[in-house]
Amino acid sequence: MKLLVTGGAGFIGSAFVRRVLGTGDRVSVINLDKLTYAGNLDNLTPVSQHPGYRFVHGDICDGPLVNSLVTDERPDAIVHFAAESHVDRSILSPEPVFDTNLRGTFTLLEAVRRHHVPRYVHVSTDEVYGSVDAPHEADETYPLRPSSPYSASKAGSDLLALSYFTTFRCPVLVTRASNNYGPYQFPEKLIPLMISNALEDRPLPVYGDGLQVRDWLYVDDHCRAVEAVLAKGREGEVYNIGGNRALPNLEVVRQILAATGKPETLITHVADRPGHDRRYALSSDKILRETGWASEVQFEDGLACTIRWYQDNPEWVRRVKSGEYHEYYARNYANRG
Ligand code: NAD
Ligand code: DAU
Repeated sequence: MKLLVTGGAGFIGSAFVRRVLGTGDRVSVINLDKLTYAGNLDNLTPVSQHPGYRFVHGDICDGPLVNSLVTDERPDAIVHFAAESHVDRSILSPEPVFDTNLRGTFTLLEAVRRHHVPRYVHVSTDEVYGSVDAPHEADETYPLRPSSPYSASKAGSDLLALSYFTTFRCPVLVTRASNNYGPYQFPEKLIPLMISNALEDRPLPVYGDGLQVRDWLYVDDHCRAVEAVLAKGREGEVYNIGGNRALPNLEVVRQILAATGKPETLITHVADRPGHDRRYALSSDKILRETGWASEVQFEDGLACTIRWYQDNPEWVRRVKSGEYHEYYARNYANRG
């Protein structure tokens, strides 16, 4: 099986590439990645010498590049992870979100259509459903009510992908996962940011009252689910992928402080995120029923592994916290009080 993976140098994409190449020599991967601030080839060191691995530095919006990769390499499937993936950055600067998440997806879909790529897995998010009131859970038929430029762009790209199935019969499958955490996650998202700040005895900036609820999914569980959909999913269908562990943010932050032995006085409530979704809640019944997938990693175990990884990899953290990171951090947090 030859896979064209987009965004394979990011957090989830790199976990997927390490996983599929680690399972034997029957899979080869072409990793197309632009190496934005979030792309990091260090994440792929364990597989960089694998005979089935090829890295292509490029943009998914580059039609000629995407077309030539698809015609030269003839992949059996495209697994599309590449995105501008952070809500706060999408609020500060929406334009790259529009380019990559919408135009980039369009470029890939056109290549699928023109060159008859046999399978296309579009990796999306539960954020497309927006905030879900308790006690409800969103299944795959739930209305799309995205709140941020990021989630709106993902909802738009999901609909575009599904339209290529309906109109052109392209072999499209869409996955919608909940909040991922695990090793190699860029320290802009809640869990790695809080771990990294706690380890450096810096304040932990909790938006608003911190009672917003997220459903936490260990990254390897997510990658197994994407593999399951790639292998067994039905074309034209959407599959939710939840972690089955809904927690308020404050509870997550407290667990991080307890596990790192740091005081709760580091918690600092700051101004809320504009348009902040209060609660995500997802039903994963369909993927279980159709592929047999279920999440396996308990949150406490996954969190302990993740914290250990950040403690053991200070050099990785130091390198990703470049000037760009500090600039972003100042822009996002400076005026929050
Ligand atoms: P990430 O930000 O860690 O990585 C994104 C990767 O895409 C980077 O390697 C970056 O260089 C690459 N990229 C960005 N723009 C590109 C372009 N124009 N051309 C080529 N490559 C480009 O993201 P992530 O957290 O690993 O998320 C991966 C996917 O999973 C995204 O589609 C995201 O929407 C989705 N998702 C993420 C989560 C989560 O909790 N992180 C949850 C559900 C779904
Ligand atoms: O639900 C899936 C989505 O999860 C993915 O599609 C996105 O790519 C991913 O970024 C994530 O989005 P969230 O906005 O939920 O994740 P984030 O880690 O940014 O924030 C999680 C919660 O923590 C959210 O309620 C905001 C809050 N938060 C976040 C940060 C960065 C804080 O309170 N303080 C912070 O500094």
